[in-house]
Amino acid sequence: MSTETQESAAAGAADGAESLSVTDNRTGKTYELPITDGTVRGIDLRQIKVSEDDFGLMSYDPAFMNTASCRSAVTYIDGDAGILEYRGYPIEQLAEHSSYLEVAFLLIKGHLPSQAELDAWVHQVTIHTFVHENLKDFMRGFRYDAHPMGMLLGSVGALSTFYPDAKDIQDPASREAQTIRLLAKMPTLAAFAFRHSRGQPYVYPDNDLSYSGNFLNMMYKMTELKYEPDPRVERALDVLFILHADHEQNCSTSAVRSVGSSGVDPYSAVAAGVAALYGPSHGGANEAVLRMLSRIERVENVPGFIEGVKAGNERLMGFGHRVYKNYDPRAKIIKKAAEDVFEVFGRNPLIDIAHELERIALEDDYFVSRKLYPNVDFYSGLIYEALGLPVEMFPVMFAIGRTSGWIAQWLELVDDKEQKIARPRQIYTGARTVDYVPMAQR
Ligand code: CMC
Repeated sequence: MSTETQESAAAGAADGAESLSVTDNRTGKTYELPITDGTVRGIDLRQIKVSEDDFGLMSYDPAFMNTASCRSAVTYIDGDAGILEYRGYPIEQLAEHSSYLEVAFLLIKGHLPSQAELDAWVHQVTIHTFVHENLKDFMRGFRYDAHPMGMLLGSVGALSTFYPDAKDIQDPASREAQTIRLLAKMPTLAAFAFRHSRGQPYVYPDNDLSYSGNFLNMMYKMTELKYEPDPRVERALDVLFILHADHEQNCSTSAVRSVGSSGVDPYSAVAAGVAALYGPSHGGANEAVLRMLSRIERVENVPGFIEGVKAGNERLMGFGHRVYKNYDPRAKIIKKAAEDVFEVFGRNPLIDIAHELERIALEDDYFVSRKLYPNVDFYSGLIYEALGLPVEMFPVMFAIGRTSGWIAQWLELVDDKEQKIARPRQIYTGARTVDYVPMAQR
């Protein structure tokens, strides 16, 4: 808080309401802006004008560095303290005791389910895992080397054409139906995309298996009559889905909310989320970590690599975060899950390089002074690689887990009476009132 703001807040607090006093030095006028929940409303700036026909003052905030776009009760993050909570429950407790579908219920419904609620929820999701046969044909139409994230993006958007009732977003029954369908079908679409990239036949869901177990079945089943997932791998995957389930107003969630604010069906809104997650600054850092570890090759090369990072030659991928200025709580849990997966598939030698990088970085003043700690991507790629996944599948795995968060945030948006179609302003920097020049005179 600036000194001025603190003084205003103190003055405001004296008469019960917090406020901010702003003096427009162009006119000498002073305005009182109410402060609620530590924020002022951007629209309150519009009364600040130099003349009657002035549009009014706007705030300029590229990349939304300091703008709250909604009120949300879904996920809480304290980046300085390294805290992540879903509906108030610490991520560490959920990762240890819960399952992905229970976490999805928590995010979407706002409370932990009773046993009966959980059973009904799991049953509903399980019996909706199949996709329409035409969707299978639709996916077959992609080129043999199509990126699985592009296939997921296209096919989840295509789901809206199979469920025209999804357009009725004001009907709670329709919203519930699409919620179940999205949660249930996302792993099916993801697994089909993977099998397509391998030229392998698509595997239908097996409703005897858990959410993660069935996903492993659709990914890896070959000639065996029944696929039996290793419980350690099944659990590790479930934990990964839990850790990726929500992260408040990140790029893809903002995309879902922004597109959803037009009133479009949730499949189209979630397709926008998948598109945003496709970008390397969002869902792709774990791939960069894996490439970095492979390039370092041996533990002995770590000190030299760190020196290069400190000299500014490159970044230590999987380190640092815009929000976390402390150990990303998800990274701690993933580190443990990686060990569980290695017990099954054998130790990935790259993990030793990762441990050494972390050990040196956490003792080094360059990283300590900049508050650079491992983030969620530092260890997740190692698990995915152990599962035999190509790097193209990494963001797809992220998308499966994040679907529950996207839905929870979309449902909150639809019910939020304060929300309207998202429509930012701009500062126009182009030409004005230029006369059209006929082609011959250009
Ligand atoms: N390695 C070395 N130096 C770094 C790193 C890093 N990974 N990250 C930040 N720094 C330095 C940076 O050079 C700067 O130093 P100085 O003050 O001397 O110029 C300082 O730390 C602050 O960096 P910044 O770029 O201003 O921080 P940011 O909040 O804009 O960037 C970040 C956050 C995640 C983009 C960045 O830390 C980064 O590039 N990390 C590596 C990529 C990565 O792991 N991304 C995954 C993010 S988590 C997944 C998700 O949420 O989608």
